[in-house]
Amino acid sequence: MLFFYLTKIYNTLDMKSSTSKEICTILAIESSCDETACAIVRDGREVLANVVASQADLHAQFGGVVPEVAARSHIEVMIPVIEDALKTAKMTWDDIDAIAVTRGPGLIGSLLIGVLTAEVLAIEKQKPLIGVNHILAHAFASFLTDSEQPGFPLLALVVSGGDSRLLLFQEDLTFETLGATRDDAAGEAFDKVAKLLGLPYPGGPNISKVALDGDDQKYTFPKAKLGKDSLEYSFSGLKTAVLRQVQEIAGDQPGLTDLRKTYQLPPQAVSDIAASFERTVVETLVEKLVRASQAHSPKSIAIGGGVSANKRLREAVLKALPQARIIPFEYCTDNAAMIGALSYQMAQRGHIAESPILEADSSLDAL
Ligand code: KG4
Repeated sequence: MLFFYLTKIYNTLDMKSSTSKEICTILAIESSCDETACAIVRDGREVLANVVASQADLHAQFGGVVPEVAARSHIEVMIPVIEDALKTAKMTWDDIDAIAVTRGPGLIGSLLIGVLTAEVLAIEKQKPLIGVNHILAHAFASFLTDSEQPGFPLLALVVSGGDSRLLLFQEDLTFETLGATRDDAAGEAFDKVAKLLGLPYPGGPNISKVALDGDDQKYTFPKAKLGKDSLEYSFSGLKTAVLRQVQEIAGDQPGLTDLRKTYQLPPQAVSDIAASFERTVVETLVEKLVRASQAHSPKSIAIGGGVSANKRLREAVLKALPQARIIPFEYCTDNAAMIGALSYQMAQRGHIAESPILEADSSLDAL
C-alpha cells in the first residue's frame, strides 16, 4: 500500500535535474539491526559526520537483540540522528547530492524504518536514492581513509554478528563469496559463549576484556576440519566444546537446552576459557584469510564487521598479512559511514536506482 503511494508521489515529481548532478556528498542511513546511524561522506572517503545511536543497553537485559524493541527504538531516534548528522557536518539538504540506505540483510522491521525514511526524504528533497547491502558495505569501510584507496581485486573478511564470509570484489563491483560460515557466525559464537560464561551482551568486547587475565593455552578447543582448501567456516563445534568444558568445571550433566543456560564459574576459569576460545576463533579466521590471499593474489585486503574490532584479530591479521587494511574501531561495528563509502562506489559506476522506491530485503545477497 505504502509502496504504491510512494510510487504515485514520485511520478508527480521531476527528478531529472537532481539525478543528473554529479554525486559527491552522500547522506547515508543504517538501521539493519540495533544501531540507528546516519553519516555524511564526501567522495566516498571523507567522513563529515558519523552519528551512531546504539541500542546495546536496551537489549542487554534480554541477552540479545529483540527485533520488536529494535524497530520501535529506530522510529524514536531516526529523525534526531539524521538532524544531528547534518548539524555536525554544518550542512543543509542543499549540500547533499544523494541519499543512501541499507536495504538488507538484517531484521526486516529495523530495515523498513531506514528504507521508508530514506524514500520519503528522497522524494521530498528530490535526491537520488541508493540502496546498499550492509554486509558488502563492511568491506568498503576500508575506503574511509586519507591515504591511498584500496585497489581491486579487493579481498575482504567480513565478520559481523550474523555473518562470517570471505569476499572478492572486482573493479566493476561484481563480487564472489569465496567462503562463508556453515552455521554460527564468529560474532554469534562470541555472543553465545559470553552468555554461557555469564558475561553481558554484546559478547565480543566482554570476552576480550576478561580474556586479558586468562591463559589462552589452558584449553585446546577444536577447529572445524572442512577440507585442505576450504574457505568456509564453522563455529558450532567450537561453541559446543566450550559448553562441555564449562559443564565439566561446573560439575553439571550435559543436556539439550544447555546453550541457553548461564554458568557460575570461578573468575580465573572464565578468563582462561574466554582467552582460549578467542585464540581459537582468531586463528581460524586468519588461517582462511591467508589461504584466500594465497589463492587469489588480491591487490588489497581488508577486514570489517563487528568482530574486526577485536584487538587480537587485528594484530594477528597484520602479523600474517602486513599489507592488510585495518579500519578504525568506529567503522568496524555497524555505522552509516560504510554505507556512504559503498554507495559512492556504486554511484560512480552507475549502480543507482531509477526510482527512489526500494525494497527492504532481510536476506539480501546481491549488490
Ligand atoms: O557488525 P556488527 O556491529 O553488527 C552486525 O551483526 O551487523 O557486529 C556485531 C558483533 C557482535 O556479535 C559482537 O559480539 C561482535 O560483533 N563484536 C566483537 C567485538 N566487538 C563487537 N567480537 C569480538 N571482539 C570485539 N572486540
